[in-house]
Amino acid sequence: KCTMPPESRFDCARDRVLSERECKERGCCYAPLPDSAGPPWCFYPSLYPGYKMGPFTPTTRGQAATLTRANPSYLPRDISTLSLEVTEETAGCLHLTDPSSQRYEVKLPAGVPLSRAATHDALYTTEYQPDPFGFIVRRKSNGKVIMNTTVAPLLFADQYLQLSTTLASSLVSGLGEHYTSLLLDLNWTSLTLWNRDMAPHADANLYGSHPFYIVQEEDGLAHGVFLLNSNAIEVILQPTPALTWVSTGGVLDLYIFLGPDPQSVTRQYLQVIGYPMMPPYWSLGFHLCRWGYTTTNTTRRVAQRMHNANFPLDVQWNDLDYANKRRIFTFDPWRFGDLPEMVEQFHARGMKYILILDPGISSTSRPGTYPPFDDGLKRDVFIKNATGHILIGKVWPGPTAFPDFTNPETRQWWEDWIRDFHSKVPVDGLWIDMNEPASFVQGSVEGCPDSDLENPPYTPRVVGGQLNSGTLCMSAQQKLSTHYNLHNMYGLTEAYATYRALTTVRAKRPFVLSRSSYPGIGRFSGVWTGDVRSDWEQLRYSIPAVLQFSLFGVPLVGADICGFGGNTTEELCVRWMQLGAFYPFMRNHNDKPNAPQEPYVFGQRAQAAMQSAVNLRYSLLPFLYTLFHRAHTSADTVARPLFMEYVFPSDPNCQTIDQQFLWGSSLLISPVLEQGAVELAAYLPPGTWYSLHNGQPFYSKGQYLLLPAPLDTINIHVREGHIIPQQEPALTTTASRRNAFSLTVALSAVGWAWGDLFWDDGDSLDTYELGNYCYITFIAGQVGLRRVIPAILPVLTVTSLALPMSKVFTVQWAL
Ligand code: NOJ
Repeated sequence: KCTMPPESRFDCARDRVLSERECKERGCCYAPLPDSAGPPWCFYPSLYPGYKMGPFTPTTRGQAATLTRANPSYLPRDISTLSLEVTEETAGCLHLTDPSSQRYEVKLPAGVPLSRAATHDALYTTEYQPDPFGFIVRRKSNGKVIMNTTVAPLLFADQYLQLSTTLASSLVSGLGEHYTSLLLDLNWTSLTLWNRDMAPHADANLYGSHPFYIVQEEDGLAHGVFLLNSNAIEVILQPTPALTWVSTGGVLDLYIFLGPDPQSVTRQYLQVIGYPMMPPYWSLGFHLCRWGYTTTNTTRRVAQRMHNANFPLDVQWNDLDYANKRRIFTFDPWRFGDLPEMVEQFHARGMKYILILDPGISSTSRPGTYPPFDDGLKRDVFIKNATGHILIGKVWPGPTAFPDFTNPETRQWWEDWIRDFHSKVPVDGLWIDMNEPASFVQGSVEGCPDSDLENPPYTPRVVGGQLNSGTLCMSAQQKLSTHYNLHNMYGLTEAYATYRALTTVRAKRPFVLSRSSYPGIGRFSGVWTGDVRSDWEQLRYSIPAVLQFSLFGVPLVGADICGFGGNTTEELCVRWMQLGAFYPFMRNHNDKPNAPQEPYVFGQRAQAAMQSAVNLRYSLLPFLYTLFHRAHTSADTVARPLFMEYVFPSDPNCQTIDQQFLWGSSLLISPVLEQGAVELAAYLPPGTWYSLHNGQPFYSKGQYLLLPAPLDTINIHVREGHIIPQQEPALTTTASRRNAFSLTVALSAVGWAWGDLFWDDGDSLDTYELGNYCYITFIAGQVGLRRVIPAILPVLTVTSLALPMSKVFTVQWAL
């Protein structure tokens, strides 16, 4: 019973360290190994007693069974009877809950149209092991085991839920937000999902939580699993390959997506959590920000210098500098007294303006001097502590209260103050920061009461050692539940409130950028990857970070270009601007103490290189916008890992690559990520690829190619068979949108190509939903010619493309 190979051991002492005697008292096996870092020494024997499953009975949505255990587990407040409901909507769902009490269950913001895809024949079969309870999910088409939970017991106590499963392969991605490569390390690692204000580094829980993983099965098929649970979660990965979920509360609500291809997996996932919002066109332009633009005049000068140096700039930002004593919804009368005029001036130049909002509301201003707090008090919008008083933490303005965005009245209050502020300062979008929520004191200025919420029987490995480190008390009260249960959703609920407020106040398409995230946030907001350091390693890791958010349904994502923390160097900043030109969201942002890193501060050569990267992006914006349209309407990814492309999965090289990526299915981006490098070994999947710069074709068998990459070059390749719609760049998208379109046509080996363009006014609400758009497909064919590949990529320039709205048509022509 205890003789399994070490990599197949499942930890019987996850909750606390056990001696040999204690381990055996649990009925577990004990077998020390030379190293304490790898496999556990105390582990479950096979068929360790657990729940026993009763017979299935049909329910309105599927079927249900009761699970009971004869003897309690070793965990405090064990729950001996569970109800299991199994349903088949767009995915296979397994819902395990406690029927006898009202346990907390996650409610995502309303409005996800369920089952967008018609229920299809299940692609899987499920077998149950009744005693001890476990299940095995297999892919129907090939019998592959997708999940097998019989390998370790299911545990379900009040504050400790545990479920282990084998994995179909070692190619696992997801489970963000962490500083990892695209493929996760299964060598006895653990990843904690607990939103935390923490500069990205290895082995730390970061700003967002996404309990979703995708597995590439070795034959190119893929599946995904989502645990809809917002409590602190730890995921243990082991080389079996296998994985263990441990959650500190809620219920086990598992969704299994059978793909069968990786893109279908993410689509099925997004059918549950919601499709991403359609961003305004201007938000795909270049954004410039830093902490430390200390006056309106400084801010104006920055935008002016960008203009003088001929750099595209769509959106100028201000960090907290604008606010009076760092209190949101105010602006400093001395340094930012003419903020409204400055914003109007930007608007007159076809630019947009965004500023930051932190959720912490200053609570110590004299009554009557800071109305957002006074009004919030009156309307009872703030999170309370365990004794029912307003919980006070500490953020930039000093002592602060925190709005409870799960309360509808809070959302109305938030909207009212956004409206009031917008009537003075007509911002075009909002940047919501510090919304994990972050606090500079542990729990509250008064500490936290000693309770099982603050000190649960088991605390996953989190930065700071306690769940309330750097945030609010777990016992804090919100409208929907305790902060213990809702913490990971704070940013999501704030993004929802902000998106709705901007929609009503501006009656235009909202733009929200959030730091903290949770499944579903892509419906309302983009995300940036927080306080990355200005160094080459962080540059490299920004690609898997961006690609992971694609898998999480947040296509509008980017890292702070040139790095936020520490001083950048000219070379790093050039390479980062080049890569950043291909982040779906492109913003250069910098921390207060650092040397400036606006493009114009660098030497002529560096400036020219940056300029050409930004211009290249601007020329590709019609294409990028169309990809966002497809994300919004079909849940396609925008920035895409190579393994997601349907022809590539069977290509093992693509399974691991995360230093290159695709835009859609047709543009391959191969950035320089090493200091001093002037050439680059880029992988080109099988087929013909054309250099976007000079049209050179390359016929790849699926191989690495050494490409020249001098400082002024980022290598971009167009995949055969695709047409890329482009437009002459300009200094803003307001101007570039009036320029001529062109099509880059990359003919396939058999002489044809396809592409499309979604076009609307770029800024109105619901243009697609209301039919106020134009959608064009382009098809190019070489009549009568076969297997002829042009030596040079032909660029067709369409100088005036009349775009009728509300019409779908195809432009077809022969070359
Ligand atoms: C933390 C954010 O991550 C950073 O981007 C911002 O500049 C500072 N807060 C100041 O607001």
